[in-house]
Amino acid sequence: MARGAAVGATLATAQGPLPARGAVATAAMFSPGAVAWDDDGIVTFVGDADDLPSEPVTLGRVDEGTIVPGFVDCHVHLPFIGWRADEFEARLAGVSYRDLHGQEGGIYRSARMLADAEDDEVLAFSKALTGEMATQGTTATELKSGYGLSVDAELRQLRLARRLGEAAPQTCRVTLLACHAVPEGWSREDWVGAACDELIPAAATEGLADAVDIYVEDIAFSLEDLERVAAAASAAGLPLRVHADQLGLSGAAEAAAALGARSADHLNHVSDTGVAALGAGRTAAVLLPASTFTLRASPAPVASLRDAGAALAIATDLNPGTSPICSMPETIAFACSLYGMTPLDALTAATANPAWVLGLDDRLGTLEPGKRADLVLLDGPTFAHVPYRPGHDPVVATLIGGEPVARSR
Ligand code: NIG
Ligand code: FE
Repeated sequence: MARGAAVGATLATAQGPLPARGAVATAAMFSPGAVAWDDDGIVTFVGDADDLPSEPVTLGRVDEGTIVPGFVDCHVHLPFIGWRADEFEARLAGVSYRDLHGQEGGIYRSARMLADAEDDEVLAFSKALTGEMATQGTTATELKSGYGLSVDAELRQLRLARRLGEAAPQTCRVTLLACHAVPEGWSREDWVGAACDELIPAAATEGLADAVDIYVEDIAFSLEDLERVAAAASAAGLPLRVHADQLGLSGAAEAAAALGARSADHLNHVSDTGVAALGAGRTAAVLLPASTFTLRASPAPVASLRDAGAALAIATDLNPGTSPICSMPETIAFACSLYGMTPLDALTAATANPAWVLGLDDRLGTLEPGKRADLVLLDGPTFAHVPYRPGHDPVVATLIGGEPVARSR
């Protein structure tokens, strides 16, 4: 690693206490701006380009462009293997996501594809995607289980996630999503029992997971199941994440807030009570507009969440069913044009707040001295050019710890 610096027409980063709540008025902006880092890839300077200490070698220069912190994708269903494009076509022909799930497609099908593949095949497939994500500016990411659907297969997926985390260019955090679908041959109660009594304690003891997630939905798990999982996660010392109010209203958002969850994710159908609870509590609202786009679902109520003072994050939700999208620039475009987020709110929601969700905000998510030099050089003169031009690849370079990431193709 070598010390270095990058200079851009604009440098924009969130700042201040995290998570940032409501409308984000705390972005720091320098024009032209610069960031410098030391031999360990740790930021030593952020500010006006004119004040840049003269010694470091300038590694990156986007004289017409913008420098922002690396994107943090805090809701990702990797590792998996195989796509489900035929389900996408079926939905366009009128079959619903719920129907496909009920016909043992959907999550069950991805579980079968995972079970039928060798470890090395899963890792090769998934690593290609983390490479693509890095090329598109993602410098830290979540990895989740949830396609195991048996105790052994969930543990296998967690181990694969840890191996992927070592092989991927990004900083990775692993989440146990045992309660994603009720496995064939199990009652819901018994599977929640296995998740709480076996999987969550094993994941914590063996250091296989950093958080616990649950899919609360009429086709998946209930609010009572959520309470059991929350208690087991808390006993194991792991933070709780919740797939909440995605396909319909279940009240999972307010339950997540009451249980002190780290985040409530999706929120397409969140109620006014849920919005108020997220505004008042410490649970972040993780919005997944790429899955909303893919499912042609109704958007989450960004304006109400922002006005209530919720901490907003956005993520890809990368998975073969609802979001075959691994690009944060594309997701930022959906957050703005589909959800109505402002570009600066989207910047904080794609960097600083998701770093807080993953428990990584002490070392990344903003550009400031002492944090890692994870940054993206963009070709537009302002960050607004990212959502303004969906489909255009805005990333000139991604740097992780000051090191440029090789383009994946
Ligand atoms: O976040 N909704 C539940 N889980 C995923 C989809 C999983 C799948 O369809 O494979 C989601 O959208
Ligand atoms: Fe998800």
